[in-house]
Amino acid sequence: MKKVLVAGATGYLGRFVAQAYKDAGYWVRILVRSREKAADLVEKVDEVFVGQATDPNTLKGVCRDIDLVFSSLGVTRQRDGLGYWDVDYLANHNLLQQAGKHKVGKFVFVSVLNPQKLRHLDIVAAREMFISELRLTGMDYTVLRPTGFFSDVAEFFKMAAKGRVYLLGDGQARVNPIHGADLAKVCVQNSTAGCKVVDVGGPEIYTYEKIARLALKKAGRPAKIIRLPRWLPRLLAGFVGVFSNRAFNLVSFMSIVMQNDYVGPKAGEHSLTDFFDELSSGKEAADATLPLAGGVTTKGGSAMSSVVSGLNPESRSGSRAVIN
Ligand SMILES: NC(=O)c1ccc[n+]([C@@H]2O[C@H](COP(=O)([O-])OP(=O)(O)OC[C@H]3O[C@@H](n4cnc5c(N)ncnc54)[C@H](OP(=O)(O)O)[C@@H]3O)[C@@H](O)[C@H]2O)c1
Repeated sequence: MKKVLVAGATGYLGRFVAQAYKDAGYWVRILVRSREKAADLVEKVDEVFVGQATDPNTLKGVCRDIDLVFSSLGVTRQRDGLGYWDVDYLANHNLLQQAGKHKVGKFVFVSVLNPQKLRHLDIVAAREMFISELRLTGMDYTVLRPTGFFSDVAEFFKMAAKGRVYLLGDGQARVNPIHGADLAKVCVQNSTAGCKVVDVGGPEIYTYEKIARLALKKAGRPAKIIRLPRWLPRLLAGFVGVFSNRAFNLVSFMSIVMQNDYVGPKAGEHSLTDFFDELSSGKEAADATLPLAGGVTTKGGSAMSSVVSGLNPESRSGSRAVIN
């Protein structure tokens, strides 16, 4: 039986991945930094290893007898003060060192689709730097390049539930977001020998405007969509960047992603309509920590929320929105 280490198993994608490896007959060890957070996973996996991926001294033995490492370790909504270089790069680097020491056969890693336009941002650069390092080791690898996760699209539903959805630009950029369970299957399918880069998206292509309309419909709200002018996020990024590198990255990331097509080869079967139905029926929690809490999120919520929070006329700051 093949043995896999799943790092990031307490996150949105990692939970689905740990389950998918179990379903495929693997023996599964998970790396977590808090046993409490992994409480519901203990029964589902074979072994829990507690360690701080950012501290190599706590990782000794994490890859012992392991054939395959999967990692979705990265900063999204964590509030521990660590940045992309600390986690997305360094924590994964520490893991790779352990994998090398224990002669692990393969490393599976998740980054983003079409990183070219995003490489200047730490949020992507740190992961791409890790990928360069991974390639140099000579170890087999698979790099998954997915579009946005359903966990991110849940932010549209959250906005819709409050009565209006904000879009950057004209909302005509296209995306095919992917459910964590569908992406997890793709990860497992691509865990065989060889070096691969796998672009992937969900089964349905939407414009952001269509996502907004669907979210409002499913939330039972009138179609109230506010289009923010293209130049506004750049201005906002410059402003928030004075105070927070993370906020700068999130605003800039969302601004680019929402104004360019992010469409990957189609995979999976989960539909956004069903997902929003589940959100509206409360079966999935739009603001839960599990499993939907993943995605590009920040202290106060998602990247999208952070973009609009300073622009929303009803936001706490009371600043006036600039809307078209
Ligand atoms: N969301 C998207 O739309 C999207 C799209 C494409 C690619 N991706 C990539 O996929 C990755 C995974 O996404 P996700 O939504 O599954 O993220 P997530 O839910 O936030 O999961 C991230 C994992 O990393 C761990 N982690 C974060 N900071 C850590 C630290 N300082 N020390 C140890 N562990 C730490 C988290 O542990 P805790 O639970 O203990 O915090 C969690 O297990 C992201 O990093 C992103 O680069 C995301």
